[in-house]
Amino acid sequence: MSVDPLSHDHAFGSPSAGDVALCPFQGDKLRSLHGSGKTLVLTGASRGIGHATGKLFSEAGWRIITCSRQPFDGGRCPWDSGADNHVQVELSDHRGLPRAIAEIKERLSGGPLHALINNAGISPKAVDGSRLTSLTTPVETWMGVFHVNLLAPILLAQGLFDELKAASGSIVNVTSIVGSRVHPFAGTAYATSKAALSCLTREMAHDYAPHGIRVNAIAPGEIKTDILSPETEAQLAPVIPLHRVGTPDEVAKVIFFLCSDAASYITGAEVPINGGQHV
Ligand SMILES: NC(=O)c1ccc[n+]([C@@H]2O[C@H](COP(=O)([O-])OP(=O)(O)OC[C@H]3O[C@@H](n4cnc5c(N)ncnc54)[C@H](OP(=O)(O)O)[C@@H]3O)[C@@H](O)[C@H]2O)c1
Repeated sequence: MSVDPLSHDHAFGSPSAGDVALCPFQGDKLRSLHGSGKTLVLTGASRGIGHATGKLFSEAGWRIITCSRQPFDGGRCPWDSGADNHVQVELSDHRGLPRAIAEIKERLSGGPLHALINNAGISPKAVDGSRLTSLTTPVETWMGVFHVNLLAPILLAQGLFDELKAASGSIVNVTSIVGSRVHPFAGTAYATSKAALSCLTREMAHDYAPHGIRVNAIAPGEIKTDILSPETEAQLAPVIPLHRVGTPDEVAKVIFFLCSDAASYITGAEVPINGGQHV
Protein backbone atom coordinates (compact mmCIF):
# COMPACT_ATOMS: atom_id res chain seq x y z
CA MET A 1 0.00 0.00 0.00
CA SER A 2 1.47 3.39 -0.91
CA VAL A 3 0.94 6.29 1.44
CA ASP A 4 0.82 9.99 0.72
CA PRO A 5 2.37 11.30 3.94
CA LEU A 6 0.63 14.65 3.53
CA SER A 7 -2.82 13.10 3.14
CA HIS A 8 -5.03 14.61 5.82
CA ASP A 9 -6.78 11.31 6.50
CA HIS A 10 -3.55 9.51 7.08
CA ALA A 11 -2.10 12.21 9.28
CA PHE A 12 -5.13 12.55 11.54
CA GLY A 13 -7.49 9.60 11.08
CA SER A 14 -7.94 7.00 13.84
CA PRO A 15 -5.61 4.04 13.39
CA SER A 16 -7.26 0.98 11.88
CA ALA A 17 -5.94 -2.51 11.18
CA GLY A 18 -5.04 -1.76 7.56
CA ASP A 19 -3.33 1.58 8.22
CA VAL A 20 0.38 2.04 7.77
CA ALA A 21 1.53 3.62 11.05
CA LEU A 22 2.76 7.16 10.55
CA CYS A 23 5.89 8.04 12.54
CA PRO A 24 4.58 9.90 15.62
CA PHE A 25 7.46 12.38 15.44
CA GLN A 26 6.80 13.28 11.79
CA GLY A 27 3.11 13.61 12.58
CA ASP A 28 3.62 16.86 14.49
CA LYS A 29 5.40 18.48 11.55
CA LEU A 30 2.67 17.34 9.16
CA ARG A 31 -0.02 18.80 11.42
CA SER A 32 1.77 22.17 11.43
CA LEU A 33 2.00 22.09 7.62
CA HIS A 34 -1.78 21.62 7.59
CA GLY A 35 -2.28 24.63 9.88
CA SER A 36 -3.27 22.62 12.96
CA GLY A 37 0.07 22.48 14.72
CA LYS A 38 0.52 21.82 18.40
CA THR A 39 1.28 24.44 21.07
CA LEU A 40 3.64 24.21 24.03
CA VAL A 41 4.12 26.35 27.14
CA LEU A 42 7.76 26.13 28.25
CA THR A 43 9.27 27.77 31.33
CA GLY A 44 12.96 28.64 31.41
CA ALA A 45 13.45 28.63 27.65
CA SER A 46 16.16 31.28 27.60
CA ARG A 47 19.07 28.98 28.46
CA GLY A 48 20.24 25.40 28.93
CA ILE A 49 17.79 22.51 28.76
CA GLY A 50 14.80 24.80 28.13
CA HIS A 51 16.54 26.50 25.23
CA ALA A 52 17.39 23.16 23.56
CA THR A 53 13.80 22.02 24.16
CA GLY A 54 12.35 25.14 22.51
CA LYS A 55 14.59 24.63 19.48
CA LEU A 56 13.65 20.96 19.08
CA PHE A 57 9.89 21.47 19.41
CA SER A 58 10.08 24.44 17.04
CA GLU A 59 11.93 22.33 14.45
CA ALA A 60 9.13 19.75 14.83
CA GLY A 61 6.54 22.38 13.93
CA TRP A 62 5.23 23.26 17.40
CA ARG A 63 4.33 26.80 18.43
CA ILE A 64 6.26 27.70 21.60
CA ILE A 65 4.96 30.04 24.30
CA THR A 66 7.93 30.80 26.56
CA CYS A 67 8.12 32.08 30.13
CA SER A 68 11.19 33.46 31.88
CA ARG A 69 12.37 36.56 33.76
CA GLN A 70 14.17 38.25 30.84
CA PRO A 71 12.62 39.78 27.70
CA PHE A 72 12.70 37.55 24.59
CA ASP A 73 16.10 37.50 22.89
CA GLY A 74 15.46 36.93 19.17
CA GLY A 75 19.20 36.65 18.47
CA ARG A 76 19.53 33.57 20.67
CA CYS A 77 16.11 31.94 20.37
CA PRO A 78 15.51 31.04 16.73
CA TRP A 79 11.80 30.14 16.86
CA ASP A 80 9.03 31.93 14.94
CA SER A 81 7.03 34.76 16.55
CA GLY A 82 9.14 34.32 19.68
CA ALA A 83 8.65 37.85 21.00
CA ASP A 84 4.85 37.69 20.51
CA ASN A 85 4.74 34.33 22.29
CA HIS A 86 6.94 35.27 25.25
CA VAL A 87 5.60 35.98 28.75
CA GLN A 88 7.98 37.68 31.15
CA VAL A 89 7.42 36.35 34.67
CA GLU A 90 9.27 36.00 37.96
CA LEU A 91 8.31 32.48 39.02
CA SER A 92 9.57 32.97 42.59
CA ASP A 93 6.63 35.34 43.22
CA HIS A 94 3.38 33.35 43.21
CA ARG A 95 1.41 36.61 43.18
CA GLY A 96 2.64 37.19 39.61
CA LEU A 97 1.36 33.82 38.37
CA PRO A 98 -2.32 34.76 37.77
CA ARG A 99 -1.19 37.63 35.50
CA ALA A 100 1.21 35.34 33.61
CA ILE A 101 -1.48 32.65 33.21
CA ALA A 102 -3.91 35.28 31.89
CA GLU A 103 -1.26 36.41 29.37
CA ILE A 104 -0.69 32.80 28.25
CA LYS A 105 -4.46 32.31 27.78
CA GLU A 106 -4.53 35.52 25.74
CA ARG A 107 -1.80 34.11 23.47
CA LEU A 108 -3.79 30.86 23.12
CA SER A 109 -6.97 32.82 22.15
CA GLY A 110 -9.24 30.00 23.31
CA GLY A 111 -7.16 27.34 21.52
CA PRO A 112 -5.97 24.08 23.08
CA LEU A 113 -2.63 23.55 24.80
CA HIS A 114 -0.83 20.31 23.91
CA ALA A 115 2.00 20.46 26.43
CA LEU A 116 3.23 22.29 29.52
CA ILE A 117 6.89 21.82 30.36
CA ASN A 118 7.83 22.97 33.86
CA ASN A 119 11.54 23.32 33.22
CA ALA A 120 12.63 26.56 34.99
CA GLY A 121 14.55 25.81 38.15
CA ILE A 122 17.07 27.35 40.53
CA SER A 123 19.87 25.77 42.55
CA PRO A 124 21.38 28.46 44.79
CA LYS A 125 24.87 28.11 46.28
CA ALA A 126 26.54 29.89 49.23
CA VAL A 127 28.37 33.17 48.47
CA ASP A 128 31.67 31.28 48.19
CA GLY A 129 30.08 28.76 45.78
CA SER A 130 29.83 25.96 48.34
CA ARG A 131 26.84 23.67 48.88
CA LEU A 132 23.98 25.00 51.05
CA THR A 133 23.08 22.25 53.53
CA SER A 134 20.19 21.58 55.90
CA LEU A 135 22.26 23.47 58.52
CA THR A 136 23.21 26.50 56.43
CA THR A 137 20.32 27.31 54.05
CA PRO A 138 18.68 30.68 54.88
CA VAL A 139 14.88 30.72 55.10
CA GLU A 140 14.57 33.11 52.11
CA THR A 141 16.49 30.60 49.99
CA TRP A 142 14.14 27.77 51.03
CA MET A 143 11.15 29.92 50.07
CA GLY A 144 12.60 31.04 46.71
CA VAL A 145 13.61 27.51 45.69
CA PHE A 146 10.27 25.97 46.60
CA HIS A 147 8.36 28.75 44.85
CA VAL A 148 10.23 28.39 41.53
CA ASN A 149 10.83 24.62 41.56
CA LEU A 150 7.55 23.35 43.05
CA LEU A 151 4.80 25.94 43.49
CA ALA A 152 5.07 27.47 39.99
CA PRO A 153 4.55 24.06 38.29
CA ILE A 154 1.47 23.42 40.46
CA LEU A 155 -0.07 26.84 39.73
CA LEU A 156 0.70 26.82 35.99
CA ALA A 157 -0.83 23.35 35.59
CA GLN A 158 -3.94 24.35 37.56
CA GLY A 159 -4.27 27.62 35.66
CA LEU A 160 -3.93 25.97 32.23
CA PHE A 161 -6.03 22.89 33.06
CA ASP A 162 -8.94 23.66 30.68
CA GLU A 163 -6.63 24.30 27.72
CA LEU A 164 -4.62 21.11 28.42
CA LYS A 165 -7.82 19.10 28.76
CA ALA A 166 -9.11 20.45 25.43
CA ALA A 167 -6.00 19.01 23.71
CA SER A 168 -5.70 15.78 25.78
CA GLY A 169 -2.32 17.32 26.42
CA SER A 170 0.58 16.37 28.64
CA ILE A 171 2.74 17.92 31.34
CA VAL A 172 6.45 17.26 31.85
CA ASN A 173 8.04 18.30 35.15
CA VAL A 174 11.84 18.58 35.18
CA THR A 175 13.08 16.95 38.40
CA SER A 176 16.67 15.85 39.06
CA ILE A 177 18.88 12.95 40.08
CA VAL A 178 19.47 14.88 43.34
CA GLY A 179 15.85 14.26 44.37
CA SER A 180 16.83 10.70 45.27
CA ARG A 181 20.46 10.95 46.48
CA VAL A 182 22.80 13.42 48.23
CA HIS A 183 24.88 15.34 45.69
CA PRO A 184 28.32 16.92 46.20
CA PHE A 185 27.27 20.34 44.81
CA ALA A 186 23.47 20.65 44.76
CA GLY A 187 22.02 22.03 47.99
CA THR A 188 19.41 20.65 50.37
CA ALA A 189 16.59 23.03 49.42
CA TYR A 190 17.11 22.19 45.73
CA ALA A 191 17.23 18.43 46.39
CA THR A 192 14.10 18.42 48.53
CA SER A 193 12.21 20.63 46.06
CA LYS A 194 13.00 18.13 43.28
CA ALA A 195 11.96 15.16 45.47
CA ALA A 196 8.68 17.01 46.11
CA LEU A 197 8.27 17.68 42.36
CA SER A 198 8.79 13.98 41.69
CA CYS A 199 6.06 13.12 44.22
CA LEU A 200 3.87 15.87 42.76
CA THR A 201 4.24 14.25 39.32
CA ARG A 202 2.74 11.00 40.69
CA GLU A 203 -0.08 12.87 42.43
CA MET A 204 -0.85 14.94 39.33
CA ALA A 205 -0.72 11.89 37.05
CA HIS A 206 -3.41 10.34 39.25
CA ASP A 207 -5.55 13.49 39.42
CA TYR A 208 -5.25 14.57 35.77
CA ALA A 209 -5.59 11.14 34.09
CA PRO A 210 -9.42 11.06 34.31
CA HIS A 211 -9.36 14.29 32.27
CA GLY A 212 -7.14 12.79 29.54
CA ILE A 213 -4.00 14.69 30.58
CA ARG A 214 -0.75 12.75 31.03
CA VAL A 215 1.81 13.93 33.61
CA ASN A 216 5.42 12.72 33.59
CA ALA A 217 8.82 13.83 34.81
CA ILE A 218 12.37 13.63 33.54
CA ALA A 219 15.23 13.46 36.05
CA PRO A 220 18.49 14.70 34.50
CA GLY A 221 21.88 13.89 36.00
CA GLU A 222 24.81 16.17 35.07
CA ILE A 223 23.89 18.19 31.98
CA LYS A 224 26.27 20.84 30.62
CA THR A 225 24.43 24.12 31.40
CA ASP A 226 24.93 27.25 33.54
CA ILE A 227 23.37 25.50 36.54
CA LEU A 228 26.36 23.14 36.97
CA SER A 229 29.12 24.02 39.42
CA PRO A 230 32.44 24.68 37.66
CA GLU A 231 34.00 21.51 39.14
CA THR A 232 31.14 19.16 38.23
CA GLU A 233 32.36 17.91 34.86
CA ALA A 234 35.94 17.22 35.97
CA GLN A 235 34.91 15.50 39.21
CA LEU A 236 31.87 13.51 38.12
CA ALA A 237 32.41 12.56 34.47
CA PRO A 238 35.00 9.86 35.43
CA VAL A 239 32.49 8.11 37.73
CA ILE A 240 29.52 8.30 35.35
CA PRO A 241 29.30 4.94 33.50
CA LEU A 242 29.14 6.70 30.09
CA HIS A 243 32.19 8.76 31.20
CA ARG A 244 30.79 12.15 30.24
CA VAL A 245 28.19 14.72 31.22
CA GLY A 246 25.05 15.01 29.08
CA THR A 247 24.03 17.73 26.63
CA PRO A 248 20.82 19.80 26.75
CA ASP A 249 19.62 18.37 23.43
CA GLU A 250 19.88 14.82 24.83
CA VAL A 251 17.37 15.91 27.48
CA ALA A 252 15.16 17.79 25.00
CA LYS A 253 14.69 14.64 22.91
CA VAL A 254 13.28 12.70 25.88
CA ILE A 255 10.93 15.57 26.74
CA PHE A 256 9.78 15.56 23.12
CA PHE A 257 9.12 11.81 23.25
CA LEU A 258 7.01 12.21 26.41
CA CYS A 259 4.90 14.93 24.75
CA SER A 260 4.48 12.97 21.52
CA ASP A 261 1.88 10.41 20.49
CA ALA A 262 4.62 7.79 20.92
CA ALA A 263 4.14 8.14 24.70
CA SER A 264 0.33 8.00 24.65
CA TYR A 265 0.15 5.28 27.35
CA ILE A 266 2.82 6.75 29.65
CA THR A 267 1.76 8.76 32.69
CA GLY A 268 3.18 9.05 36.21
CA ALA A 269 6.67 8.07 35.00
CA GLU A 270 9.98 9.73 35.87
CA VAL A 271 12.63 9.08 33.22
CA PRO A 272 16.27 9.22 34.37
CA ILE A 273 18.65 10.90 31.87
CA ASN A 274 22.06 10.53 33.45
CA GLY A 275 24.48 8.29 31.53
CA GLY A 276 23.98 5.54 34.12
CA GLN A 277 24.99 7.72 37.11
CA HIS A 278 22.28 6.15 39.29
CA VAL A 279 23.19 2.50 38.73
N1 LIG B 1 21.84 21.04 34.14
C1 LIG B 1 21.74 20.00 34.93
O1 LIG B 1 22.72 19.29 35.15
C2 LIG B 1 20.42 19.66 35.58
C3 LIG B 1 20.38 18.46 36.31
C4 LIG B 1 19.17 18.11 36.91
C5 LIG B 1 18.06 18.91 36.78
N2 LIG B 1 18.15 20.07 36.08
C6 LIG B 1 16.94 20.89 35.98
O2 LIG B 1 16.69 21.23 34.64
C7 LIG B 1 16.01 22.48 34.57
C8 LIG B 1 16.75 23.41 33.62
O3 LIG B 1 18.04 23.55 34.14
P1 LIG B 1 19.25 24.20 33.31
O4 LIG B 1 20.45 23.45 33.71
O5 LIG B 1 18.89 24.32 31.88
O6 LIG B 1 19.29 25.62 34.03
P2 LIG B 1 19.79 27.05 33.54
O7 LIG B 1 20.72 26.93 32.38
O8 LIG B 1 20.25 27.72 34.77
O9 LIG B 1 18.41 27.72 33.03
C9 LIG B 1 17.38 27.96 33.95
C10 LIG B 1 16.21 28.57 33.23
O10 LIG B 1 15.18 28.85 34.21
C11 LIG B 1 14.78 30.22 34.10
N3 LIG B 1 14.51 30.75 35.45
C12 LIG B 1 15.35 30.65 36.51
N4 LIG B 1 14.79 31.28 37.58
C13 LIG B 1 13.59 31.76 37.16
C14 LIG B 1 12.57 32.51 37.79
N5 LIG B 1 12.66 32.89 39.07
N6 LIG B 1 11.48 32.87 37.08
C15 LIG B 1 11.39 32.52 35.76
N7 LIG B 1 12.31 31.80 35.10
C16 LIG B 1 13.42 31.43 35.79
C17 LIG B 1 15.98 30.93 33.47
O11 LIG B 1 15.53 32.04 32.69
P3 LIG B 1 15.84 33.57 33.04
O12 LIG B 1 17.16 33.62 33.76
O13 LIG B 1 15.81 34.25 31.72
O14 LIG B 1 14.69 33.96 33.89
C18 LIG B 1 16.56 29.86 32.55
O15 LIG B 1 15.90 29.90 31.29
C19 LIG B 1 15.93 22.99 36.01
O16 LIG B 1 14.69 22.68 36.58
C20 LIG B 1 17.04 22.22 36.71
O17 LIG B 1 16.79 22.07 38.09
C21 LIG B 1 19.30 20.47 35.47
